[in-house]
Amino acid sequence: MTVTLEDRNACSVHLSEDEKSVVIIDQRLLPNNQVYCELKTPEEIYQAIKTLAVRGAPAIGICAGYGIYVLALRSEKTDYDSFYEELKQQTDYIVSSRPTAVNLSWAAKRMMKVVEDNRELPVSEIKKLLYKESVAIHDEDIEMCTRISEYGLSLLKPGDGVLTHCNAGPLATSKYGTAIGPMMLGKERGIDFKVFSDETRPLLQGARLTSYELQKAGVDVTLICDNMASIVMKNGWVQACFVGCDRIAANGDFANKIGTSGVAILAKHYGIPFYTLGPTSTIDMNCPDGDHIKIELRDPEEIRSMWYAEPMALKEVKCYNPAFDVTDHELLTAIITDKGIIYPPFDVNLKKLFEEQ
Ligand code: MRU
Repeated sequence: MTVTLEDRNACSVHLSEDEKSVVIIDQRLLPNNQVYCELKTPEEIYQAIKTLAVRGAPAIGICAGYGIYVLALRSEKTDYDSFYEELKQQTDYIVSSRPTAVNLSWAAKRMMKVVEDNRELPVSEIKKLLYKESVAIHDEDIEMCTRISEYGLSLLKPGDGVLTHCNAGPLATSKYGTAIGPMMLGKERGIDFKVFSDETRPLLQGARLTSYELQKAGVDVTLICDNMASIVMKNGWVQACFVGCDRIAANGDFANKIGTSGVAILAKHYGIPFYTLGPTSTIDMNCPDGDHIKIELRDPEEIRSMWYAEPMALKEVKCYNPAFDVTDHELLTAIITDKGIIYPPFDVNLKKLFEEQ
């Protein structure tokens, strides 16, 4: 597949024309306002990721790749050691913005490896290689999302109901997305599905982003509150659950948006197949199981007062606000990747997948 500049520029994260900044659509303002921002400094990139202006595991990886290139390009250092030191410090700072999605550190490591492997070259040449690597990270994601969508589509029958949680669409990735990619691709081919989008408390990615993307694409989407997943399953309206992932451990346990594991438990109860869809860049073979995934804790105000005209809980009420949870691999029917559909036993089959690479 040939990826063009036009394909890249259509994505929620891309490089500006002069290559001096990362352009993102500010996802915090959707669906009411479409505002683009330009990120040029380590602080701007860190804040955009931390505050979820750019979010979704693959999208933050792409943002880190372009961000590191932009910072390298703007660097005035000409000798290798000081160029490396400055960029390494800025990269570590960006990576510290969010701990759970592996794509962020994965992309940062790829970029820094280019610098480390080419220390004998002039800094100006290293910058050109960094450009190529950042574009490769983006292009690979476009290709991976397309393949994931094809594999996901092969598991559905026309008219099926699909429940999804959070947002794993084009905004969170590139091209079709992952978890909603099969239905996006199906729509392009005239195949219709009925999607149930969990609103996804507390940050409402399902309401603000998933239902917005699907509605705009002409896909039949019904928005539900998170606590309505059980009734739509019981009613027989859901034939499969498709969700994204932020880090898949070597045994198949995976972290995704808080609430995902509850959906998996419900799906098991009702005998509905439950899939996670993600690029191979989201599989962390260095992480043995879900207990080793660091879960990000976020500001209690996201529960207490965000989105409301007035706070809905007393200031002194304790809140627990984990951004992700881990779904046990035993609840998972299969992992849909760009390299194929992986079935249990996940520890064996994921290992095989990486050995084949
Ligand atoms: O906190 P967020 O909105 O970045 O969480 C995102 C998710 O949990 C997505 O499902 C995941 O990153 C996959 S995106 C293809």
